[in-house]
Amino acid sequence: MQERYERDKQQIERALLQAIARDEHVLNGLWEVMEYSLLAGGKRIRPVLVLEFCRAAGGQPEAALPAACAVEMLHTYSLIHDDLPCMDDDDLRRGRPTSHVKFGEWKALLAGDALQAEAFRILLCSEMAADRRAACAALLARAAGVQGICGGQYLDLEGEGQSLSQAQLTEIHRRKTCSLLSAACQMGVAAAGGNEAMQEAADRYGQALGMAFQIRDDMLDELGNQGKLGKPVGSDRAEGKTTFLTLYGPERCQALVEQLTAEAKEYAARFDGGGFLSWLADQLAVRES
Ligand code: IPE
Ligand code: IPE
Ligand code: MG
Ligand code: MG
Ligand code: MG
Repeated sequence: MQERYERDKQQIERALLQAIARDEHVLNGLWEVMEYSLLAGGKRIRPVLVLEFCRAAGGQPEAALPAACAVEMLHTYSLIHDDLPCMDDDDLRRGRPTSHVKFGEWKALLAGDALQAEAFRILLCSEMAADRRAACAALLARAAGVQGICGGQYLDLEGEGQSLSQAQLTEIHRRKTCSLLSAACQMGVAAAGGNEAMQEAADRYGQALGMAFQIRDDMLDELGNQGKLGKPVGSDRAEGKTTFLTLYGPERCQALVEQLTAEAKEYAARFDGGGFLSWLADQLAVRES
C-alpha cells in the first residue's frame, strides 16, 4: 500500500510541475512564488484521494489528474493565506520559511489568489468530459467558499481568545478542513462518472477522515515535533485558539481520532477495492507529520 501511495504521489508531482505554466516571461516572478509553496512537497493527501476514489469508482486514475492538481493548488493557496501575519502568523511551512517570510506579504497574497484561480482554470480547461469537470468545479467551489474553507477560517479567527464549545469547534473543523477532504473524495467519484451511492459514501468517508485529520493536526500542533511536521509547534496556543486538545486532552482526542477512522473505514468498505482507502485512514490516525 505504501508503494501505491508513493506511485500516486509521483504521478501528482509530475502533473503539478506541468501545471506551473510559466507562460509569460514578465510574470516568472509570480510563478516562482506559486511554485515555491506548491512544489515544496506536502503529503498530497487530497490529490491522492482524488485519484484513489476515481479508481474505486471504476475510472482510470489518470483521467482525474486535472481534478487532483486543482485540489492541491487550492489547498496550497489556503496554506499560504493561513500562515499570513493577519491569520495564524506562522513562519515555517512544509519545512521551509513561509511564503510571506521568503517573498514578502503582497507576493504571498497574490500567489495564493493566483493558485486559487489557476486551480479552476486547470480543471475547467482540461480534457475531462464537460459534465464531469463541471461537477468537479462545483464541488471544489463549494469546499472553498463560505460553506467551506473561507467560512471555516472566518470562524476560526473570530474565535481566537474565546473559549469555544465542542459544537462550535466541530463546525469550524467541518468547514475549514472536512469540506476540502470530502470534496477531493467526491471529485474522484465524479471524474469516474460514479453513481449517487458512491458520492454519498465518498462524502461520508471524507467528512469522518477530515475530522480525524484536524483533531490529529491540533494534537500535533502542541505535542508534535517541528522537524517532522515542517511547521511550528505551539502556534495554536500562541494565537489563543480553542482546539480539541484544549477541550479534551491527548487521550480523549486520540480515542476520537480512532472512532472517526473506524467510521471512515466503514464507508471505504462500500467500494470494491476500498482496501487502500482503509489503509490510508489508518495511516493518518497515527501520523506524525
Ligand atoms: C494542513 O494540511 C492544513 C490542515 C487542514 C490541517 P496537510 O497536513 O495536508 O498539509 P500538507 O499538504 O501535507 O503540507
Ligand atoms: C488550517 O488549519 C486549515 C486550512 C484551511 C488551511 P490550521 O491553521 O490548523 O493548519 P496548520 O496547522 O497551520 O497547517
Ligand atoms: Mg489556521
Ligand atoms: Mg495554521
Ligand atoms: Mg493546525
